[in-house]
Amino acid sequence: MRYVTLTEVYSHRIAKKYLSRSGVAHAITCAYHAFDLAKERKVSVDLATKSALLHDMGHYTWYKNGRWDYNLYKQNDIHAIKGAERAHKLLIRLGENPQYAKDIAFAILFHTDSYIKDSFIKRTPLQEITKLADEMDEETGGLHHYRKIDEEKAIALIKRLDEMIEEEIKVNPL
Ligand SMILES: [Fe+2]
Repeated sequence: MRYVTLTEVYSHRIAKKYLSRSGVAHAITCAYHAFDLAKERKVSVDLATKSALLHDMGHYTWYKNGRWDYNLYKQNDIHAIKGAERAHKLLIRLGENPQYAKDIAFAILFHTDSYIKDSFIKRTPLQEITKLADEMDEETGGLHHYRKIDEEKAIALIKRLDEMIEEEIKVNPL
């Protein structure tokens, strides 16, 4: 059963605020990749698309002496931790099933190993899909965060993905 749609998640002001920082186009492309991967691997398309859509919502800026410092940011980055927390709070607020919200939060927490040694993580299929979906859309120098998409197109893509999820759930209710 599905408790919250991607359209509801995407339309919430909290999602809008953070996704516009880390890149709406990147978030949506990842959600589409996650849909394909989840379908192929028999993982919940509902959870995989939400994890991928929200995976970067923990991004923040790191300033030193009033200036953005990318190297310091890289060194001290905890966007996966912040993202997991923000996504969890948002999903619970929207009425998500608490177990789903927890699984999505963990998928976001483990979507990158920039702050943790890879060998320490043994990812679940959902966590692996979230990481792969992100990597599939990565561009060198972090350019994927700056790709633009207009709002009308973004919402149309989110709505279409919602329909694809509903269809898939009818056939494969995971
Ligand atoms: Fe990402």
